[in-house]
Amino acid sequence: MKYNFDEFINRIGTDSEKWESGGHGGVYFDENSLSFSIADMDFALAPAIDKAIRDRLDKKILGYTEVCTNEYRSSVSNWFAKRFGWNFDGELMYTVEGVMDGVRLAIEKLTDVGQGVVIMQPVYPPFMGSVSKLGRKIVVNQLVCDENNYYTINFDQLESQLADQNNKMMLLCSPHNPVGRVWTSDELCKIADLCHKYGVYLVSDEIHCDLVRVGAEHIPVAKLRPDYDIVTCVSPSKTFNIAGLQMANMVFANKALKAKVSGLVNMQCANPLSIAAHLGAYNQSEDWLDEVKVYLDGNFKFLKEWLSTNLPKIKYRVPEGTYLAWLDVSAYNADSEKFAKDCGFGGIIVEQGDVFGEGGKGFIRFNVATPRSVIAEGLERMKKVIEKY
Ligand SMILES: Cc1ncc(COP(=O)(O)O)c(C=O)c1O
Repeated sequence: MKYNFDEFINRIGTDSEKWESGGHGGVYFDENSLSFSIADMDFALAPAIDKAIRDRLDKKILGYTEVCTNEYRSSVSNWFAKRFGWNFDGELMYTVEGVMDGVRLAIEKLTDVGQGVVIMQPVYPPFMGSVSKLGRKIVVNQLVCDENNYYTINFDQLESQLADQNNKMMLLCSPHNPVGRVWTSDELCKIADLCHKYGVYLVSDEIHCDLVRVGAEHIPVAKLRPDYDIVTCVSPSKTFNIAGLQMANMVFANKALKAKVSGLVNMQCANPLSIAAHLGAYNQSEDWLDEVKVYLDGNFKFLKEWLSTNLPKIKYRVPEGTYLAWLDVSAYNADSEKFAKDCGFGGIIVEQGDVFGEGGKGFIRFNVATPRSVIAEGLERMKKVIEKY
């Protein structure tokens, strides 16, 4: 490997949300805790991104900076054309401060207070927070989990929810955090066709699109159904571990949809260091991504083998996408809040599953985007916590 993902980088002193807080659950932590919570990676920046930021700083002035340049737009659209065969017009992009800002903007502009937004649970908790804080109604579509921890969609329930005139939007997580599914073309077409049939806007959060297992294929839903009213939210933030730079893009299916959400802004400013990082990522860091994917696959394999030897009652399946393992710990402790708190006192920070909504109780989410040695030590600590039960 050209890049060293085994290097442990101490993040204490960087105000890291992952390492300097107890995660979303606010569990006990101290400077010796190991964190597997918040979804970012513990790997060093790709060198081309590091250089792009330094080169931009060398230009000495960080004034208002235009983001709607041909260079920026084509670097984003070229990435999606090359990696996913998805071709879109750069004019249909709108830059926002984060994927969740894009999601919230879409909810605000495309639905009214009191209207329903369909969400498949368990899911990334800010989906629920965004819908409810904006005064819209959360409509839960319950994912179906089989005995092998494989999740599928209840399309009958989904159709009846989309047919309800009060429900105006569906928020899709693709690939899905935390259950790790990479939706198939068939599933995506069915979702899009149902949304279209009932006049429901489809907003697809594809922030995890680049981080699927080697050999798995993520398909942008907007590529499958280019004529429908679909809003796609993307960012290199997860892909290249630059989430702190807070910049993302919405891609609209057509100009009218973009106008409804953004007012067809032609000029837009963004953080110049974030723009530089995005260019360094999309234009020059593909080899880093290809290597990080191989390393993550190795971490999942390690986790699977370690668990089946040492904690065989934890039910777990290697996810098709994301770097997040979704572990069913209910055989040891069905109360995931308590389990996460016990882990906190045992020096390991994990996310309690119940905050992901229906179907999350009894699970924890465990981020494997860290050196393998950290995972090994974290699992030993988890074992000690479980041995006390
Ligand atoms: C599915 C999903 N969407 C959005 C985000 C957050 O994105 P941003 O920081 O760009 O708002 C995350 C972060 O974990 C995520 O998992």
